[in-house]
Amino acid sequence: MKPSLDRRIQSLLPVALASLLVLGIARLVLDNLKSDQSHIFVVYGRQEMEKFNQRPIFVGPNDRFKEGCNVFEGEWVWDNVTHPLYQEQSCPYLVKQTTCLRNGRPDSFYQNWRWQPYACELPRFDPLKLLDVLRGKRLMFIGDSVQRGQFESMVCMVQSVIPDDKKSFQRIPPMKIFKAEDYNASIEYYWAPFIVESISDHATNHTVLKRLVNLDSIAKHGKSWEGVDFLVFESYVWWMYKPFINATYGSPDDIREYNVTTAYELALRTWANWLESSINPNKQKVFFMSMSPTHLWSWEWRPGSDGNCFNESYPIKGPYWGTGSNLHIMNLLGSVIQESKISITLLNITQLSEYRKDAHATIYGERKGKLLTKEQRSNPKQFGDCIHWCLPGVPDTWNEILYAYLLKSHQNVF
Ligand SMILES: *[C@@H]1O[C@H](CO)[C@@H](O)[C@H](O)[C@H]1NC(C)=O
Ligand SMILES: *[C@@H]1O[C@H](CO)[C@@H](O)[C@H](O)[C@H]1NC(C)=O
Ligand SMILES: *[C@@H]1O[C@H](CO)[C@@H](O)[C@H](O)[C@H]1NC(C)=O
Ligand SMILES: *[C@@H]1O[C@H](CO)[C@@H](O)[C@H](O)[C@H]1NC(C)=O
Ligand SMILES: *[C@@H]1O[C@H](CO)[C@@H](O)[C@H](O)[C@H]1NC(C)=O
Ligand SMILES: *[C@@H]1O[C@H](CO)[C@@H](O)[C@H](O)[C@H]1NC(C)=O
Ligand SMILES: *[C@@H]1O[C@H](CO)[C@@H](O)[C@H](O)[C@H]1NC(C)=O
Repeated sequence: MKPSLDRRIQSLLPVALASLLVLGIARLVLDNLKSDQSHIFVVYGRQEMEKFNQRPIFVGPNDRFKEGCNVFEGEWVWDNVTHPLYQEQSCPYLVKQTTCLRNGRPDSFYQNWRWQPYACELPRFDPLKLLDVLRGKRLMFIGDSVQRGQFESMVCMVQSVIPDDKKSFQRIPPMKIFKAEDYNASIEYYWAPFIVESISDHATNHTVLKRLVNLDSIAKHGKSWEGVDFLVFESYVWWMYKPFINATYGSPDDIREYNVTTAYELALRTWANWLESSINPNKQKVFFMSMSPTHLWSWEWRPGSDGNCFNESYPIKGPYWGTGSNLHIMNLLGSVIQESKISITLLNITQLSEYRKDAHATIYGERKGKLLTKEQRSNPKQFGDCIHWCLPGVPDTWNEILYAYLLKSHQNVF
């Protein structure tokens, strides 16, 4: 049993590599060109403040899902009326890793599924309500490129209701920041693939083959997270490279190979300790996204086949759980969150995303910052990206759920 689990962890390697490296070097140049440091530290002046005196939108009973409802248990229903929530071409902030249609994907069914919980309704996403909840606040997504997809999804979900001269998008590595001026609200992204510190922390020029994680170091990242109103963390696929990972704990010179499970747990505890010492639970809210599943081996949902997520057009009808989503790590995550003195909301999106073998970028994503060549496209088994998701798509649903939680805890101002 153990050897086979390890083999699977190991075989995440080629694809994970291929798709994660991608973001890297090529985008570095682009990001540097586009980044505009001068805006970010601008303090809002008095006149700006006047503009925020808009009537707040009221969050009513229909915006809050039923108490006690597990929104993560449900099914995907075909709904080409309300979904997608935005059009790929209408959102200027998507990186080409996610723009599958533009990159040539022939089918678009993956955009038309809505997540329907069994026990309640999710509130219908309303960008103006979200902006109201975010008024004068910061929402930050922290994690790897999967998390960046969720950040971009959230920006696309709100940006269409904001006039061009009232919104901005800045790239200040390791961050990306979207601002809605009239609301003094920001939606941000922070690159930290292991959450704790590592040699992969440079937003664009990071190593993929060599990994070294500092399991007890988080302070440097943490400085950028202080005071953020809504923090949404995620980290998984970067750990699942080999059964062991080089890491330090204690002395920075004492590099050892750690069992990935052990290393992940130590990192989570470092993170939980940071939260306890740095978060004001009355002002700040913390979320953690459970692992985003991969669909690397089609024999897992279609026994006897030998492909991956390529050429899949429909969701899996459950029950289904792929071996890539390590349940031992899932349980560890549950324990760390439960034991934390700070309230952390786990958004357990793994199961619902497990069904979505149809929704990955496959050969319509990118590799090393470029679209795939014709030769690469003819070899989906090797070059298909079954880690990242097309947008619009599954990350929109994660955000519909995050939205539901944000609304649930929102206090109306009368
Ligand atoms: C929506 O789906 C239904 C059922 O599959 C189909 O008949 C209809 O043409 C679709 N509408 C659009 C706008 O794609
Ligand atoms: C704007 O938002 C920032 C960050 O959330 C906050 O610190 C600041 O007080 C807000 N400014 C106004 C004028 O509300
Ligand atoms: C990327 O990082 C490596 C190692 O730190 C460095 O040698 C290289 O010059 C960097 N590349 C760029 C384009 O900055
Ligand atoms: C750890 O680092 C050493 C030295 O660079 C390397 O030989 C070894 O393969 C690494 N181990 C893992 C699990 O990557
Ligand atoms: C890593 O640790 C976990 C939990 O203790 C164990 O189940 C697993 O077999 C270990 N993996 C390796 C490769 O030793
Ligand atoms: C994709 O799947 C369809 C049927 O589901 C099959 O007819 C077709 O040959 C497949 N295409 C490729 C390139 O595998
Ligand atoms: C997340 O959901 C899955 C599927 O329902 C479940 O097996 C797992 O235990 C849940 N994780 C936690 C930490 O509760």
